Amino acid sequence: MSSYVTRKTPGNTEWFSHDRFGMFIHFGLYSLPARHEWIKKYECITDEKYQKYFDHFNPDLFDAKEWAKAAKNAGMKYAILTTKHHEGFCLFDSKYTDYKITNTPFGRDLVREYVDAFRAEGIKVGFYYSLLDWHHEDYPMDVAHPHVDYPWAEEKDKGRDIKKYAEYMRNQVTELLTNYGKIDIIWFDYTIKKEHAPERYKPWMQHDGGKTKELWEAEELITLIRKLQPGIMINNRLDVSQDVWTPEQKRPTEWAKDENGELLVWEACHTFSGAWGYHRDEMTWKSDKMLIDLLTSTVAFGGNLIMNVGPCSRGYFDHRAESALKAYGDWMRVNSRSIYGCTMAEPEFKAPDGTVLTQSLDEKRLYVHMQSYPFASLTMENLAGKIDYVQFLSDGSEILYTENEENGTVEFTLPHVAPFGISPVIEIILK
Ligand code: GLC
Repeated sequence: MSSYVTRKTPGNTEWFSHDRFGMFIHFGLYSLPARHEWIKKYECITDEKYQKYFDHFNPDLFDAKEWAKAAKNAGMKYAILTTKHHEGFCLFDSKYTDYKITNTPFGRDLVREYVDAFRAEGIKVGFYYSLLDWHHEDYPMDVAHPHVDYPWAEEKDKGRDIKKYAEYMRNQVTELLTNYGKIDIIWFDYTIKKEHAPERYKPWMQHDGGKTKELWEAEELITLIRKLQPGIMINNRLDVSQDVWTPEQKRPTEWAKDENGELLVWEACHTFSGAWGYHRDEMTWKSDKMLIDLLTSTVAFGGNLIMNVGPCSRGYFDHRAESALKAYGDWMRVNSRSIYGCTMAEPEFKAPDGTVLTQSLDEKRLYVHMQSYPFASLTMENLAGKIDYVQFLSDGSEILYTENEENGTVEFTLPHVAPFGISPVIEIILK
């Protein structure tokens, strides 16, 4: 068994550390303006003006089964959907608000259809829930709130009661974790540091313009969640360390540890382009190679990768998202053995330049991901005498090698030109 042992936490993380690859889905009213999921903040839009997106919300081409198939074909094993994002709009039929999908022209509970369709494909189901809420009347304004710069902000903020909002969250989380069967992971977003609040707001802002775990009543929320769904995974953004640490838009260079040096279960989240919600004019779409490299580099440091899709307002994945998913699907179809059930390679193995390594949890198979393809041969240290067989993972074609008993290196003989597309993988079956 792999020598890497992660810190013990209350939730069940075993499936997660095996499955490695998931789909994030950001869908909400912001899909209509199609200019970023933070549009309400970025353009300081009032509730009145934001209402048109609610009135016109009608994803007529939405088909949860198609979403689920797309995730499955890409090799993704779990999914996390925004049941409510910062704008406060709920994709589920909540008793505690009118600001919900069943009151739009669409009229259906999208969370229900998502859960059913993904489960039917054997994909684990997760919920994202925003701690921020730019619609709720008891949510006190903070530095991230869209309305802080209006002259009426101070007046409007008076009397807002975070305790009532914390209760609202518990009520909604109860609905989400009671009405939809077994939920594998719940992902909160995010705790706002008051240090980030500019001085000019502080004279009138409650809580110095930030939000702490005490204000979310995080401990109480967590206790409730553990009671409703024992075994569920909870992320760290309530500002209470739980089952999984979730760095955003980062390419790791080491395995994340806690303050005591214990290894954490962690998951990097990334977008295909620069926004999470559907953004029509965003042009910084990652290349297929970047997408695959993100996946291999993440698993090479013991982490999971969750890649985000922002469906357009008619409810489908646009051609750019489809093409990114296809890049994963094509690669995973033949290379997933180097991802599922794999983790960081044992310390005795060193990745040659331009490569990253993964290794199966049972330690029997070692994978060299050639992110940059070398010319004609590749040499690895400390490997002589340990090999049983070597092949390209893509097509199972044998790779010849020479062992140097004196210095322990092994030289693999490779074709001059990479025989397969992005990041070909050498599979080494160890003795
Ligand atoms: C950020 C953003 C948000 C996105 C999230 C995903 O915290 O506020 O829009 O949902 O990251 O990690």
